[in-house]
Amino acid sequence: MSEKSEKESSLVRFGVSMPEDLMGRFDKLTGKQGYENRSEAIRDLVRKAILESEHATPDQSAAGTIVMVYDHHVNDLAITLTGLQHQYHHDIISTMHIHLNHDQCLEVIVVRGQVNRLRELTNRIKVQKGVFYAELSVTFIDSTEGETHHHHDVGHAHTHSHPVTERKDGE
Ligand code: NI
Repeated sequence: MSEKSEKESSLVRFGVSMPEDLMGRFDKLTGKQGYENRSEAIRDLVRKAILESEHATPDQSAAGTIVMVYDHHVNDLAITLTGLQHQYHHDIISTMHIHLNHDQCLEVIVVRGQVNRLRELTNRIKVQKGVFYAELSVTFIDSTEGETHHHHDVGHAHTHSHPVTERKDGE
């Protein structure tokens, strides 16, 4: 996984009881994934659970990606998605657009902002007809150095290809 923000110097040890077969299946899975020890695998699971938790403070600063796949032939979808991204331009650092095949587009949106806004954007993308899936993946930004608004310090270079243009090519 990516960089860890926790201070590895303050490790705490604890014991966990688990059925043997469950432990065996877990070891098998994490071995396949490339983990060298249980501790690291469990740490990543815990991080994931915390990141996905709805209990995270809604105004917490986060950075990550929204990955989505959609069919650009669906009526006005490309225009709608571009419009949506412009509404959230303060939260979007960059967008990468990949034309997967004749119909499907893959878009990776790099986001940085309040997690509730990032979730809101993801959901608004997800519900559009023609969007196959949209997933938000974030890590929370350590707020010890800048307290509240340090995410605004970043220059939001907003670059993306306009799917509107590409639509004309495809038709
Ligand atoms: Ni495309």
